[in-house]
Amino acid sequence: MRVVDVQLGDRSYPIYIGEQLLEQAGRYLEQHGLSKQSPLLIVTDEQVAPLHLGKLEQSLQAAGFRFVTAVVGSGETSKSVAVFEEVMTRAIEGGLDRKSAVIALGGGVVGDLAGFVAGTYMRGIRFIQMPTTVLAHDSSVGGKVAINHRLAKNMIGVFHQPELVLYDLSTLQSLPAREVSAGLAEMVKHGLIWDAEFAYWCLENAERLKALDMEAMGYGLEKGCSIKAIVVSRDERENDLRAILNLGHTIGHAIEAVAGYGEIIHGEAISIGMVGSAMIGEALGAKPGLKDTTSQMLQALGLPTVLPAHLDTDRIMGAMMHDKKFQEGRMTFIVPSAIGVVAIDHNVDYDLVRQTVEQLKKEA
Ligand SMILES: NC(=O)c1ccc[n+]([C@@H]2O[C@H](COP(=O)([O-])OP(=O)(O)OC[C@H]3O[C@@H](n4cnc5c(N)ncnc54)[C@H](O)[C@@H]3O)[C@@H](O)[C@H]2O)c1
Ligand SMILES: [Zn+2]
Repeated sequence: MRVVDVQLGDRSYPIYIGEQLLEQAGRYLEQHGLSKQSPLLIVTDEQVAPLHLGKLEQSLQAAGFRFVTAVVGSGETSKSVAVFEEVMTRAIEGGLDRKSAVIALGGGVVGDLAGFVAGTYMRGIRFIQMPTTVLAHDSSVGGKVAINHRLAKNMIGVFHQPELVLYDLSTLQSLPAREVSAGLAEMVKHGLIWDAEFAYWCLENAERLKALDMEAMGYGLEKGCSIKAIVVSRDERENDLRAILNLGHTIGHAIEAVAGYGEIIHGEAISIGMVGSAMIGEALGAKPGLKDTTSQMLQALGLPTVLPAHLDTDRIMGAMMHDKKFQEGRMTFIVPSAIGVVAIDHNVDYDLVRQTVEQLKKEA
């Protein structure tokens, strides 16, 4: 069992990482003083429910907790105002009160949706994350929870830290290979922004990680969560430092928006985005080889590094303009200068970004 402590003063919380934790969920909730009088709300999705919900429900029942469950559709479309309202209805009809908690059992989509429900129901009730994807190690740290507006992703949200995170590695065994790799993109990102040694460890252990070797995965998730926890504890509200977690995301979000959510999934889009950031880094003075090493790491983890040629460059640039990171003709980018070292550059030239997007269609 591994434990990462996210240090945020009176909002600090532990992340427990280990196998068969859902079976022990009742005991963990008891230890953390969750109420057995007030009903809990479990939020999960239709793909995760048949695989993993039973273990959680049994454990809560055995420990004497009351709960209601909301099963939403799988995928990004569930982070909508309409689905948010449905889950809220379930919470009200289920009689949740101020001492209740919302449990997110699923990936980042369920985590963001359930977290936003927890953050707004009766002005905020307790929140517990039980991630079931590799990618959700990222969303389980830092308390950003949000749903999408039809015009923009993650536009409606709050900061709401979980009370605890129960990361049951056993649930990852049912995750499709493509989703495993997508999650590994965020894992290696934590190395690329902060810790070169960890980035190279991801490269060396790529085969073990893709094969869901529990020892390697446990270490990788612990390390990924720890790095994000350090960054977030120094800048919880993203005044400055926290922005480095967006490495690859400016281009990545634009790719997702233009490709249509789903064709290229989040981790894949930011993989391509991180290659683009490394190209920008080299153009701004990093040693040659940065882009090649970055690509090599991502490819080893089973990720794409080339932008599909049919995605229109102007539309990608247009999508970036809508991004919150665009101001007065210059763009803000997280720019790497070496593996493990990045800086926030508010003054990246539009033309350089455009050239980079073009180049991304050609080179691996
Ligand atoms: N709040 C944050 O800080 C933060 C950080 C990163 C990402 N995110 C958000 O996370 C979301 C992406 O998360 P995700 O990649 O986990 O997506 P997801 O929750 O949609 O999960 C991916 C797919 O895998 C399925 N799935 C989940 N667990 C499974 C399991 N154990 N076995 C089989 N199938 C399983 C899901 O049903 C879904 O189809 C995005 O909306 C993104 O904005 C938030
Ligand atoms: Zn991301």
